[in-house]
Amino acid sequence: MGDNSAKLNFGGQETDYKVLSGSVGPEVIDIRKLYANTGAFTYDPGFTSTASCESKLTYIDGDQGILLHRGYPIDQLAEQSSFMEVAYLLLRGELPGKSELESFTRTISRHTMLNEQLSTFYRGFRRDAHPMAIMCGVVGALSAFYHDSTDINDPYQRMVASHRLIAKMPTIAAMAYKYSVGQPFVYPRNDLSYTGNFLRMTFSVPAEDYVVDPVIEDAMDKIFILHADHEQNASTSTVRLAGSSGANPFACIAAGIACLWGPAHGGANEAALNMLREIGTVDRIPEYIARAKNKDDPFRLMGFGHRVYKNYDPRAKVMQKTANEVLERLGVKDPVFDVARELEQIALNDPYFVEKKLYPNVDFYSGVILSAIGFPTTMFTVLFALARTVGWVAQWNEMISDPEQKIGRPRQLYTGPTARDYVDVDKR
Ligand code: CMC
Repeated sequence: MGDNSAKLNFGGQETDYKVLSGSVGPEVIDIRKLYANTGAFTYDPGFTSTASCESKLTYIDGDQGILLHRGYPIDQLAEQSSFMEVAYLLLRGELPGKSELESFTRTISRHTMLNEQLSTFYRGFRRDAHPMAIMCGVVGALSAFYHDSTDINDPYQRMVASHRLIAKMPTIAAMAYKYSVGQPFVYPRNDLSYTGNFLRMTFSVPAEDYVVDPVIEDAMDKIFILHADHEQNASTSTVRLAGSSGANPFACIAAGIACLWGPAHGGANEAALNMLREIGTVDRIPEYIARAKNKDDPFRLMGFGHRVYKNYDPRAKVMQKTANEVLERLGVKDPVFDVARELEQIALNDPYFVEKKLYPNVDFYSGVILSAIGFPTTMFTVLFALARTVGWVAQWNEMISDPEQKIGRPRQLYTGPTARDYVDVDKR
């Protein structure tokens, strides 16, 4: 082996491991032969140093605060493209030409309706059910409906399942919202844009005409772009792991939704706005900063910090600008936005946050925007799931077509009891 290898001294034996280079980013030591060579495993809870797959989709440089989709910087995509273009880019690898984009958008719009039977699922939920609980259930239930797109070894069926998921997610999300507020479900309208259709299904009522506000439509589209994909995050890894067994694609996405719900992941946008509301006024910020720094207090500044970004999350920058635009357009004077801006400034200058490289992440400002548009906090993670579905299906497709793909099966460091004999219940 040449220079491009790493040597390991272990158990009195030296073994060599190939070092793989991506197109950009850190080198990766290929330890696949480690167990066969040495009988040892690696230990990496939380996968902080482990590349679980090879991918061509998304690149993050956490130190520089860079996020690229298929090479394109996220701020350029958010400012200049549309969510449909980004969906095409992630799924197919290149930005679409004009007619390709039209054809893709038409295909997606032809899949927006749900099998009517699915609407009965909603009525089984309590009206006060968290919409993410409904999302897990209804998206999982899709696996019982679309049998002609579940042969994962057929690329055509995989693509149909992907289109269905991208297309139906806004319908499912809007219905979850409508159910919670006791309003009738609104059917999709395919003459509207992907995002305009979603806004209409969410906010229109049969009693009145609804006109999509282009500023809100544009802001929402940007939010979807900013959430479309994010490398091997927890929910994407969950989708890949579920999919690695050959599971039904709709069930795999339901697994991703379940993972996304957690407050350390997608649930942080809901938690961030709840926190900003709890703080309420600028004068109370120091109290919360002190709590975030106190090791004995489990409180964390929600919307701050990231596993990968040790710099300003590039998505947060676009989000801050969009928040300004939306609040101005809607004429909303939300004190929560003042608290957010002030909290950001204080935290960015506080040695605790500076030393730990804790910066605002995508969730810090998204809640302010979504709340101004009219979404209740419980819907925030649903919107994240809607947008991330594009990344999930793109990553799932990439995994299935990867010849190196195997069922995901990590090992462990066992610290439980060693073998012992069963003792009859009377003798214990
Ligand atoms: N407030 C206060 N302290 C923090 C915070 C925070 N938000 N985040 C991290 N820290 C501290 C943490 O206490 C630890 O300190 P120490 O080294 O003294 O023990 C240090 O910073 C490193 O934290 P960690 O938990 O080891 O880092 P991680 O990479 O495991 O966690 C994180 C990343 C996002 C879970 C964490 O920063 C966090 O809980 N943030 C708040 C929740 C949040 O906003 N999540 C959204 C993430 S972005 C959306 C997405 O991609 O899903």
